[in-house]
Amino acid sequence: MRLKIAVLPGDGIGPEVVNAAVRALRTLAEIGGFEFQFREFPIGGAALAETGFPLPKATLDACLESDAVLLGAVGSPKFDDLPRDRRPEAGLLQLRIALGGYANLRPAIAYNALTECSPLRATIVAGANVLFVRELLGGLYFGEPRAIDAASHSAWNTMRYSESEIERVARVAFEQAKLRGGKVTSVDKANVLETSQLWRSVVTRISKEYPAVALDHMYVDAFAMHLVTNPKRFDVVLTENLFGDILSDEAAAITGSLGMLPSATIGGAVNLYEPVHGSAPDLAGRNLANPLGAIASAAMMLRHTAAMYREADEIESAIRGVLAQGYRTADIHRSPGEQQVSTTEMGALVEEALTAAVIRRQAYHAV
Ligand code: NAD
Ligand code: IPM
Ligand code: MN
Repeated sequence: MRLKIAVLPGDGIGPEVVNAAVRALRTLAEIGGFEFQFREFPIGGAALAETGFPLPKATLDACLESDAVLLGAVGSPKFDDLPRDRRPEAGLLQLRIALGGYANLRPAIAYNALTECSPLRATIVAGANVLFVRELLGGLYFGEPRAIDAASHSAWNTMRYSESEIERVARVAFEQAKLRGGKVTSVDKANVLETSQLWRSVVTRISKEYPAVALDHMYVDAFAMHLVTNPKRFDVVLTENLFGDILSDEAAAITGSLGMLPSATIGGAVNLYEPVHGSAPDLAGRNLANPLGAIASAAMMLRHTAAMYREADEIESAIRGVLAQGYRTADIHRSPGEQQVSTTEMGALVEEALTAAVIRRQAYHAV
């Protein structure tokens, strides 16, 4: 297997967590004999400082020529006062549009070893496994018109969805549900918003193509409550861009930390893999960040871009194994029985577990 991977570390803890993800991929490539080529490019604040643009043309061109993009995070307090379209975050939004991936998969899994880590009761989170399918290229993020108008002392954004934008992301959610628990919950605000009324009717129509998948609808406010009181009732959650942004951060409470959540953006010319969290300026440069969301994003890359299901599973098992042994970065460290480790140590532990698993498997097949 050959894979050209564009690596965009970005800002804050981005480079620290991406480094751990690249190490896991390199390890697999070395032992498994795969040709993974990594090329690094600036994005976000790092790119602004270097070139004056949050998404330089060279970075975008390289991404479009790659098989997959692995991104850390963008954003820095240094650039918080810039106008919206010149901020680091604009670079990420421009990249998402250019790559064309409209379905952002964000799994939130309550690992057994971490159920005590959640601020929610262990009995509530144990066994929870929710896959968010967030629409990524529409809604309030991109709708026109949008403006700040000094003369009228006001500002506005537009929430807009076309039927085809809803259809294509809905199909991804139903397809994913077929591979999992067979259930889709579509989250909207159809009691108030026209976009949500359209959303609900299109999702209902598409659901008829998937008789084996059960569909229910829920208003976003009630969903936000049910997600933390009974997360186990959900399998695949399909929702629009801004609701998905907010609810997937809320889902971090199920897993124990925002640092645990990975994501894959699929459906476009080149898939994009990034942890759900941001640049965490409070942790940046301190070797404290949790790299597991980034490493799990690399597993999603192997699954969704390279169809390397076995290796993707092996990365995820290595993560589970290291957690089961009691290793914790600071954000998921709760009791004296657990051993606190740094970002780089956690990366090395996953690498070790992964190496051992692959060598075991190869030895088994060699017999
Ligand atoms: P954030 O996700 O960076 O941090 C929120 C909280 O979670 C902080 O307390 C942080 O310490 C913690 N956290 C985040 N990732 C962690 C990890 N891997 N390990 C341990 N703890 C972790 O969100 P924020 O503070 O609201 O935003 C900071 C910057 O990041 C802003 O500029 C924002 O725009 C940007 N941002 C970027 C992305 C992205 O690049 N995809 C996502 C969200 C926010
Ligand atoms: C995310 C982030 C981004 C988003 C920002 C940084 C543009 O919060 O990936 O969740 O809102 O999509
Ligand atoms: Mn977000």
